[in-house]
Amino acid sequence: MAGPITGGREASKPHAVCFPFPAQGHINPMLTVAKLLHHRGFHITFVHTEFNYRRLLAQPASPSSLQDLPAGFRVETISDGLPLSALRSSPRDLIALGDSIDRNCPSAFRALLSRLSDDSDSDVPAVSCIVSDSTISFTVYAAEELGVPGVLLWTSSASSLLGCLQFPRLIQEGFIPLKDETCLTNGYLDTVVDWIPGMKSIRLRDLPTFIRTTQKDDVLLAFSLRQTGRACKASAVIFNTFEPLDRDVLEALSTVLPRIYPVGPLNLLLSQEQLPASSRVSKTATVGGGGASFWEEDRECLEWLESRKPKSVIYVNFGSIAVATAQQLVEFAWGIANSGQNFLWVIRPDLMARGKPLPTEFTDVTRGRGLVTSWVPQEEVLGHPSIGGFLTHCGWNSILESISNGVPMLCWPFGADQPTNCRYCCTEWGIGMEIVGEVKRDEVEMMVRDLMVGVGGGESRGYGSGPAMRERAAEWKRLALEATRPNGSSRMNFDRMVREVLLSPE
Ligand code: UDX
Repeated sequence: MAGPITGGREASKPHAVCFPFPAQGHINPMLTVAKLLHHRGFHITFVHTEFNYRRLLAQPASPSSLQDLPAGFRVETISDGLPLSALRSSPRDLIALGDSIDRNCPSAFRALLSRLSDDSDSDVPAVSCIVSDSTISFTVYAAEELGVPGVLLWTSSASSLLGCLQFPRLIQEGFIPLKDETCLTNGYLDTVVDWIPGMKSIRLRDLPTFIRTTQKDDVLLAFSLRQTGRACKASAVIFNTFEPLDRDVLEALSTVLPRIYPVGPLNLLLSQEQLPASSRVSKTATVGGGGASFWEEDRECLEWLESRKPKSVIYVNFGSIAVATAQQLVEFAWGIANSGQNFLWVIRPDLMARGKPLPTEFTDVTRGRGLVTSWVPQEEVLGHPSIGGFLTHCGWNSILESISNGVPMLCWPFGADQPTNCRYCCTEWGIGMEIVGEVKRDEVEMMVRDLMVGVGGGESRGYGSGPAMRERAAEWKRLALEATRPNGSSRMNFDRMVREVLLSPE
C-alpha cells in the first residue's frame, strides 16, 4: 500500500526510509525524526506494519484516505510476520513480535527497498538512507547491501543501551543467567557492578530487566544481545537525549559505537523548529493529517485541567504496554484518594489483563477532584500549568516529556529499560522518587503528598521532597530547551548527523 507522490522536484531529493518498531513508544520518536528530515528536504517513506497501520486508520483522528499525505511524505506497509489475529499488546507479545519481525521482515523489507529504488515510472527518488528502530536492526545489513547509510534510532535511554552492552561480560563473569529464581527476591539483584564506565555504583536491579532470567537461551536476553550487538555495525546511532543529561553515559557509548548523535528531546527539537508553517508536516500527523495514537485521545481532559489550580494535579499514566494487576490498581487508587490531591488518571482499556475497574467507593470519595480516562494527549497534559507531578512507569518517552515540561516524577518502573531510567531520575538527576517493591496504599499516599506539596515526610525517608525535585526538573527543562534551540547541542547534532551520515555516500 503506498501513498501518492506529488511535486515534480521530488525525484532529485534525498530519500529516507524510516522504519519504527511497531509500538506506540517507538513510533512517536521515529515519526518525529521523519518530520524533522522532511523539513530538511528529504523525501520520506514511513514504514508501518500492516496490523498497526489498520489500527491507526481506525482512529477517528486519522485521514479518511491516503490522498491526505503531504507532498514527499509517503507510507508503505509490510507484514510483521504474525497473523492479523495475534495479540500484540503485552510485553511478552511484543517480544514475540520483535522476534517475528527479525525472522520474517528482512525479505519483505528488501523487496520494498528494491521496489522503491526501481520505480522508474514515478517521481520517487532512489532510496539514499535508512533510519530504523534499533530493535529492528537487520536494516543495517539491508542498508549495507544497498550501499546507503543505515542509521539506528535508540528510542529508549542511552543508559539502557550502555547497560545492555554489558550483558556479554555479565554472562562471561557469571552474574547472569541467575542461578535460580530466589535471586529475584533474596537481595542478589542489589549486587553492585562497579566496572561499567559511565555508570556509577549501578546495581543488577538497575540494569534492563532482560537479565532477570535463569535461562541462558532466554528469548528476551537473546533478543537484546542480538539487537544491541548490531548497533555497533550501524553507520550511526541517534539517541533521544541531550548532552548535559547523559554526559558520562554518552562518553562511554562513544568508545564502543561507531558514531553517536544525541538529538533530544525530540519533541522539543520538533516544536522549536523555525520553519514557515507551509513547509511543516503537522506536528500530530501520522500518515498525513491524522493522529499518531492507537487509542482515541480524550481532549476534554485539557478543559478539566483548566479548572484546576497551578501545580495541583498529579498525572498518572503507565504508558502503552505495561499491564497492572487489579490489586496494584486498588492500592494506587486508595493511596491517591487518601493523599487528598487532585489527579488525572489514565487507565488504558488493556491496562489490566483481568479484574474489575476501580472500586465504586473510590469514585465517590474522590468526586470533584479527579478525572479517570483512557488515553490523553500526553505532551499537552504534561505541559499544562495545573500538572504538579507525574506518577509514571518510567517509559523513556514519558520521562523526557516530563523533563521537557519541568515536572517531577513518582516512579513505578515496570520492566525492560524502565528500572534503568528510574535509577537515573531518582539518583543522578534528582527529579524522581521510586516506589520500591509491592505497591502499598499508605506508601503511595505519603509519596504523592511528598511529590505534590512536600509534606509526606520524604526527606526523613531518604527520597527527597517534591518541591526540591520540581526546582531541579525546572533546571533540566531549561537545559533541554537550550539544547534544542538554534545552535543548541541537540539541534547541531541532528544537522551534523544529516550532513555527515545521511547525505554522505557510504
Ligand atoms: C515502551 C517502553 O515501555 C519504554 O520503556 C521504551 O522506552 C519505549 O517503548 P511505553 O511503555 O509505551 O514505551 O512508554 P513511553 O516510552 O513512555 O511511551 C509512551 C508514549 O505514548 C509517549 O510518547 C506518550 O506521550 C504517549 N502517550 C501515552 C500518550 O500520548 N497518551 C497516553 O495517554 C499515554
